[in-house]
Parts: sequence; structure tokens; C-alpha cells
Amino acid sequence: MYDSMKGSTHSLAPPEIAEMAIPEDERVWVPQAPGVWFRPLLLNTMAGQWCNLLRVRKSGVLSKHLHPAPVVGYVIKGRWHYLEHDWVAETGSFVFEPPGEIHTLTVPEDCEEMITFFNIQGCMYYVDEDNKHTGFEDVFTKIDMCRRHYEEVGLGASYLDQFIR
Ligand SMILES: [Fe+2]
Repeated sequence: MYDSMKGSTHSLAPPEIAEMAIPEDERVWVPQAPGVWFRPLLLNTMAGQWCNLLRVRKSGVLSKHLHPAPVVGYVIKGRWHYLEHDWVAETGSFVFEPPGEIHTLTVPEDCEEMITFFNIQGCMYYVDEDNKHTGFEDVFTKIDMCRRHYEEVGLGASYLDQFIR
């Protein structure tokens, strides 16, 4: 039976996460590239999946990539689009990215800042202009990046533990 005091139906259930998605502490944002940061929310090592906010304060092409598994997103602020599609993801938009599709994330010049929530499964598989593989990110490379950053900024590598399952 569910015990609201314990917060879980089972002793083996992992602890819940309830965080303000946009942090007050700027150090929580992990630099990804100049003008690009991500904020980890869930790093699920059992499913090879992670949830994060992506924050971009520059315009132009961010990356060309595909995912072998589906991705969903929700635009919290700003605007962006994929060069391969006509639609624009605006503040409040829900986005579904089907597995295997190559797309080029681009932020328009008149957008000072975009923040989007993404739930990513599997990996980010990066490609160049000729669609040749150039690198990848998965839940484990994300964990490594976060730990390095949190160590550097004084939050400590263990700050990340609360988001790992
Ligand atoms: Fe994508």
C-alpha cells in the first residue's frame, strides 16, 4: 500500500526527484560549447536515457545529429528549428523527434536565449555536413561532463549524484 510519509510503494524504489528545473545557482548549468549550456535533471544509467534543459545564448547552427531512439522536448523559452523541416519550435511547443532522423538544430538571430527540456534515449549521434559520424554523447559522457564541471565550480562531483539513477 502506498505510504505517503515514505513517498514510495516499495523499499527498492529509487528516491524521487523534485527540483526547480531552472536553477537559481548559475553553476548548475554545465557548459557544452560557447554560448551553450545544459542543466541535468535525470541521468538514468539503467535505461541509457537522460533529461536535461538545453540553454542557448547564441544564434546559428548548434549541431547536426541523429538519435537511434525517440526524443521528446518542450520549449520553455525562445525559438529554434531544424534546417530539414519547415516548422519552428516556439515557446510552449512540444517536439517529438523520431528515431534515425538526421536534423540540424539552429537558433535564429533574433532569439537571445532559448531554453528547451529534452528527454533523450540512447545517444546523440553527431554527423558532419556529409552525414559522416563525428562523435556521440550518452548518459555516461553526460555524467562525466557534469562531474568535471561541478568539481571545477566548487559544487563538488557528488552534487550530481541526486540526478543519477
Ligand atoms: Fe535531435
